[in-house]
Amino acid sequence: MADKPWGGRFKEETLKIVEEFTSSINFDKRMYAQDIKGSKAHARMLAAVGIITDEEAGLLTGGLDKVLAEIESGEFQFSEALEDIHMNVEKRLTELVGPVGGKLHTGRSRNDQVALDLRLYLAEETGEVLDLLRGLCEVLSQRALTESDKLLPGYTHLQRAQPVSFGHHWLAYFEMFLRDMDRMRDTMVRTLTSPLGAAALAGTPYPLDREMTGEDLGMLGVCQNSLDAVSDRDFALEFLFNGSVIMTHISRLAEELVLWTSKEFAFIELSDGFCTGSSIMPQKKNPDVPELLRGKTGRVNGNLIALLTTLKALPLAYNKDMQEDKEPVFDTVDTVKGSLAITIEMIRSLTIREEKSLAALKEGFVTATDLADYLAKKGLPFREAHEVVGKAVSHCEQEGLALEELALTTLKGFSPLIDKDVFEVLKVTSSLGARKALGGPAPQNVVMQARAATSRLDNIWPRRK
Ligand code: ARG
Repeated sequence: MADKPWGGRFKEETLKIVEEFTSSINFDKRMYAQDIKGSKAHARMLAAVGIITDEEAGLLTGGLDKVLAEIESGEFQFSEALEDIHMNVEKRLTELVGPVGGKLHTGRSRNDQVALDLRLYLAEETGEVLDLLRGLCEVLSQRALTESDKLLPGYTHLQRAQPVSFGHHWLAYFEMFLRDMDRMRDTMVRTLTSPLGAAALAGTPYPLDREMTGEDLGMLGVCQNSLDAVSDRDFALEFLFNGSVIMTHISRLAEELVLWTSKEFAFIELSDGFCTGSSIMPQKKNPDVPELLRGKTGRVNGNLIALLTTLKALPLAYNKDMQEDKEPVFDTVDTVKGSLAITIEMIRSLTIREEKSLAALKEGFVTATDLADYLAKKGLPFREAHEVVGKAVSHCEQEGLALEELALTTLKGFSPLIDKDVFEVLKVTSSLGARKALGGPAPQNVVMQARAATSRLDNIWPRRK
């Protein structure tokens, strides 16, 4: 058992089938850079507190750099027998620098090491997700600025309700993705807490300087309890939850794009690059990208439930079950980043077809509420005004007319309070323009909010590239 770092107490070889079942190298090699970064910080600290010499620390960090270069050039031979990234790196380090390699693991366990690696990895990926969310928010607010007065029927129960604008609609998603950024940023703070030095579960008798390694690694604090340090995966759960909320927002947007590209709505057109055809129906232009975005939400939700279920009822401290934390996390990272990147391009490149949304507005009695408000302003209790307008709508439906197409005398028949100023009120543009209170869709509001977008984004996550 000489080639296993933990082989001392074993007399027989591990079964091949067990090695295959228990090893994580095939997926945790993704964290090689974080593993090496953490080991270098640990080695520097060991020297700073006098556990190893500066020369030994130099050999270890130099050797770790070589291992890093080997992995990045593709020449590194990963071994399943060595289970995971931690032991693969350490074994190669010892081959390169000799027995001093064995000193690296002083005052450390794979349990605090793996917790550290996952935190460092997730903090970096969270930064990339934040960059992408910011990019999406920028595209949405840019569209809002130019489409603040492009009319769109707003819906409730998927029935035409009241006029809004494309700009107002884009800004609704801006708000959602801005909150997603806020959540990710908040999670990042807790992720950047260092478990290093908790060792297996009970700390170590060595005079480790945990704050030093924490600071060296850019952490914002250190875990305060050694048992918790190696058992806590809350930060990963938070990331997975945040990812699910992002995908939920993306899928609602995607669903609307699927609807809006159908002939039944036809409010927008996706650029050809975002669609595919049918092998049998020559007329088809299918919205595959928004459909797939909608579909990918399922796996991301599954990843959250998977990790919650793995952690449920696990006794303290480390248990091998926890190795199952990585694949759901990696899958959510890949899926969320890929989905955000494509959503940005899809929103940027779509074209709106205002003639279609205007036609839909004509048919939907979308200013009926404005007529009721008009009557209420003239003194009729709103409930009665509602009744009056209901009757007018029903009359229009029978006649196949829009409210604004009724003659003034006919309108007066429904209520003597109605006068010729009603025709201004019945215009969709008036309805939109009147909704000026904070958060309403009046074009001037939308423009103001779109202009405020950059400073709100900067407050959460300044642009990095
Ligand atoms: N590959 C392991 C994991 O991913 C690393 C920690 C192993 N620790 C242990 N005591 N077996 O969780």
